Amino acid sequence: MMAFVVRQALPSDGAAMGQIHVAAWRSAYVGVISDSYLEGLDATTFGLRWEASLRESTGGSTVLVVMRDDRVVAMCAVGPFRDRAEPDDPTGELWMLNADPSSFGTGAAVKLHSAALQTLAEQGHRSAVLWVVDRNPRARRFYEREGWAADGVERDAEFGGSTIHELRYVRQVTAI
Ligand SMILES: CC(C)(COP(=O)(O)OP(=O)(O)OC[C@H]1O[C@@H](n2cnc3c(N)ncnc32)[C@H](O)[C@@H]1OP(=O)(O)O)[C@@H](O)C(=O)NCCC(=O)NCCS
Repeated sequence: MMAFVVRQALPSDGAAMGQIHVAAWRSAYVGVISDSYLEGLDATTFGLRWEASLRESTGGSTVLVVMRDDRVVAMCAVGPFRDRAEPDDPTGELWMLNADPSSFGTGAAVKLHSAALQTLAEQGHRSAVLWVVDRNPRARRFYEREGWAADGVERDAEFGGSTIHELRYVRQVTAI
């Protein structure tokens, strides 16, 4: 069993998070989002954005990272449901979950996901949603294994000239 440590992300994690963000997207969305868009993603730019967002706490979410051997290997963000119609809607949302491809299948994402649910529970959420691209079978399989299911709501989004189709997944939130 590998030793993973989950903690809140710090501004100093920004650069590592930028690298993971770009690598995870390239892995998940090859053939789904245009090659030119994926090739143009710049890890340094993403890293600086993460650093600023964490420094200023502007995002409105709680950002967690999981470390292995003092290195960030995956990251996630949780918070209130972004599309809620009422401000007091208790639904939470897993805003983002990205692992470094070198850590796929190691359990890092499993560990981080359970910390994400714990955080949502601590924030008072009893259920949560997430959006996943229909053509992202690895992520869909992961979420389904972790107790999420499509709730039938779907939407299209534009990324770098590509239209992607997203499915909404829902899950009960219980402290583990
Ligand atoms: C989604 C993510 C966090 C999951 O972490 P992970 O370590 O890859 O997950 P695991 O290996 O534990 O589980 C993946 C599951 O998909 C399966 N899988 C792997 N590759 C697959 C593929 N190409 N097609 C279908 N299923 C696949 C695995 O067998 C496993 O299922 P199983 O446990 O039933 O065998 C990680 O893959 C990731 O960061 N991906 C890139 C970014 C991303 O897609 N984020 C989610 C956006 S909503």
